[in-house]
Amino acid sequence: MTTKITHYTSAFEKEVAQGLTSFPKSLSSKYFYDEKGDKLFQDIMAMPTYYLTDAEFEIFSTQKEEICNAFYGNQGFDLIELGAGDGKKTKILLNYFSEKGIDFTYLPIDISQNVLDGLKESVEREIPGVKIKPQQGTYFEVLEGLVNYNSRKKVIMVLGSNIGNLLHQKAIQFLANIQKGMNTDDVLFMGFDQKKNPQTILNAYNDPEGITAAFNKNILHRINRELEANFNVDQFLHWEVYDPESGTAKSYLVSKTEQEVHINKLQLNIHFSPWETIHTEISQKYDDDVVSWLAEEAGLKIINQYTDSNQYYKNYLFAKR
Ligand code: TRP
Repeated sequence: MTTKITHYTSAFEKEVAQGLTSFPKSLSSKYFYDEKGDKLFQDIMAMPTYYLTDAEFEIFSTQKEEICNAFYGNQGFDLIELGAGDGKKTKILLNYFSEKGIDFTYLPIDISQNVLDGLKESVEREIPGVKIKPQQGTYFEVLEGLVNYNSRKKVIMVLGSNIGNLLHQKAIQFLANIQKGMNTDDVLFMGFDQKKNPQTILNAYNDPEGITAAFNKNILHRINRELEANFNVDQFLHWEVYDPESGTAKSYLVSKTEQEVHINKLQLNIHFSPWETIHTEISQKYDDDVVSWLAEEAGLKIINQYTDSNQYYKNYLFAKR
C-alpha cells in the first residue's frame, strides 16, 4: 500500500499532485516553461498564425515615440517587466530610449532563469549602455518586492496578453496587487488580446504543424523527467476551444484511451477514462468594456491605449485611480 505524500519539496510537485487528483483534472500553464518549453514558445511566437506577437511588435514599432512620452518622468524611470521572455518586443523600446539618451533602468522579471540569462546577454550585446538588472521569480514573489522600488517613477510592463492566463477574478487580484505597489505617478502598461473573428483565434492556438500541440504536451514530458512519471505522451491530444461569448480560449490535453499513469516521486497512480481531459491553459480575449471593468475593480484607470492596424490587440496604459 502506498501512503499519501503530504509534504512536497516544491510547488511543482504539490500543484501537479493536486491538479491530477482533482476532478476535472488540470495542470498549471506556468510549468510549460522549462528549457524545451521556452524554445517551443519562441517557435509559437514565430508562427504567422500567432498574431499576438506581430500585433504587439507593430504597436511598438509604429508608436514608440508616444509610448516613450507616456513613460517619461522628470528623473527618468525604472522599467519593470513581468514575464520578460526573450524581450523581442521590449528591445524596440529599449533601443529607442537609449537612442534618445533617456535615463532608465530595465528590470526584467521571469520565472525562467534560463530565459533571463539569454535576455541579459543579448541586451548587453545589442544595446550597449542599457542598465539591466534581471530578477528570477514568480509574479507573486516579485510583486512583493515592487513596493521597495521607490526612488523614481516606475513603469510596470506586462506584455503578450499574459494577463489572459488568469480568469477575471484572479486577473483583478493580480491588477490590484500591482496597483498596491504603485505611486500616483507610476504607470502600468499592459497588453490585452482583443476579441475578434473566432476562427483567427482558433488558428493561433491550433497550428497544423503541431507546434502548439508539442508545447502543450511538453508539460507531460516535464513531469515524466522531473517527477519520474510514465505518461505515454502520444496517447494524449491537444485540443483548443474558444467561446466567443465569454472571450475565453481554453487548451486541453485529452486522453485518447483509458490509461493509468504512475508518478513515482509523488507516489501516485493516476487513472484516465477514455477522452478524459486535463485543462492546461486559459487565454482570455478582451474588449474595452471588460478592460475598463477590470481596471475599476482593481483601483486603476485607463489613461491611454495603443492598437495595431487590424485592431487585433491593445496595449493599455493605466494609472492609480
Ligand atoms: N499563454 C500564451 C497565450 O495564451 C501561450 C500559449 C500560446 C499557449 N499557445 C498556447 C498556452 C497553447 C497553451 C496552449 O497565448
